[in-house]
Amino acid sequence: MADSIVIFGASGDLTSRKLIPAIYRLFAKGRLPTGSRIVGVSRSEFEHEEWRKMLRESTEQFAGDQFDAETWNAFSQSIFYQSGDINSAQDFRKLAKFLDDVEPDNGCGRVYYLSTMPQLYEVAIKQLGEAGLADDTNGFRRVIIEKPFGTDLETAKALNTSIHNVFREDQIYRIDHYLGKETVQNIFALRFANSIFEPIWNRNYVDHVQITVAEEVMVGRRGGYYDKSGILRDMFQNHILQLMMITAMEPPARYDASLVRDEKVKVLHSIRKMTGGDFAADTVRGQYAGYLDEEGVPPKSQTATFAVLKLFCDNWRWKGVPFYLRSGKGMSCRTTQIVIQFKNVPHILFGDTTREPLGNRLVMQVQPAEGIQLHFETKVPDAEMKTRTSTLDFSFRNVVGGDSMPDAYQRLLLDSLLGDASLFARSDEVELAWGIIDPIIAAWNSPAAPQLHSYPTGIWGPAQSAAWIESQNREWFDVCPVLK
Ligand code: BG6
Repeated sequence: MADSIVIFGASGDLTSRKLIPAIYRLFAKGRLPTGSRIVGVSRSEFEHEEWRKMLRESTEQFAGDQFDAETWNAFSQSIFYQSGDINSAQDFRKLAKFLDDVEPDNGCGRVYYLSTMPQLYEVAIKQLGEAGLADDTNGFRRVIIEKPFGTDLETAKALNTSIHNVFREDQIYRIDHYLGKETVQNIFALRFANSIFEPIWNRNYVDHVQITVAEEVMVGRRGGYYDKSGILRDMFQNHILQLMMITAMEPPARYDASLVRDEKVKVLHSIRKMTGGDFAADTVRGQYAGYLDEEGVPPKSQTATFAVLKLFCDNWRWKGVPFYLRSGKGMSCRTTQIVIQFKNVPHILFGDTTREPLGNRLVMQVQPAEGIQLHFETKVPDAEMKTRTSTLDFSFRNVVGGDSMPDAYQRLLLDSLLGDASLFARSDEVELAWGIIDPIIAAWNSPAAPQLHSYPTGIWGPAQSAAWIESQNREWFDVCPVLK
């Protein structure tokens, strides 16, 4: 069926950098339902041809080697532009008429992608409802909502309520682009399509889990937004908790949106809420030196650009196993990795028996080079019985070749067209995640807040972060990145 993807906020950065290149690649691979169209909506006035021309330039830039002029020409004929103001009911009626005219067959499905400023989500949804655009008697109607989904539990609940006034939950696709990353989906495969990992994936064998999302970039021109958000809202409430849920969840009975999400939600229910002294004992916060000079940042801002949280899942599988979640801007390099640190052997037989081997470690590298590395002890060759740590590497790039790993948006956009919401957040998931993060934000904003440590850019966050984990007889796995 020839569906429509309607992008609100079409003149924004996300559309040209991510959405159009992703849809173009789907088209080039023959995955986009034949005859589907893209309709961009924003306030600027463009002719269809003018917008196509602008998108051609940006797609050429962002699709790199995968850009092919002939394929683009064929694809661009399905791109349209309709100017409109989110606040104008009349513009929504015009859009409804335009879509009816441009869609050839009765029964075309529609995905509405809200890539506008978050303050406009509620009004956009209301307008869609009032213009009859949510009515799915004549083909599916789905809405994709970008992050941030609210700024705390209260605003997320209010947003869920407004959306539910117009769309049913099964029509709502809350996007978290981390779930579209291939290596994140590979965690499902690694855990649930193999029999050798699951038996040891628990408190009996795992000492702790480290989830690090390190970014080399700083806040750049996003200072105004970032200062109100800070690292906990920007990265933890969504991306990092998602990584934790997939790492910690139980296997669902089937790979099905509601069953997968039921299991993820159970993880959130099991996360122990921090109280009292936990905020000081189990969190570290930092701000990179130079942050206060960024455009849009108030001179005395206490916003954290780096954070560590130590969380526990109070359930049978994970009781007592710390999950160390860490993220920061201005760090040594860009790497996202999940490290499963296994317990040490109970008794050391070989070599220097006072040297504690590190224990086995499984590193799932989400980006930049996607893959898995297993650390294990091997005998030092041509020597007496001494051991050292060796690695087994699996790199997706070696299997599929350099640039072929799809961008997260490709997978997510296609799933939204196909009606598979497994990789999108459900309303309860988003609210529970805020319920975990909100008290930490409140504690950090209170007079009893733990100290905000400054750190120079280009390192792994404040020195206190390393000292803190060492005081627990553990160490960060700081490798930039393990796979090339
Ligand atoms: C976004 C955050 O959601 O994710 C940004 O707002 C962050 O601050 C980005 O840089 C990281 O995404 P990725 O895919 O580059 O790791």
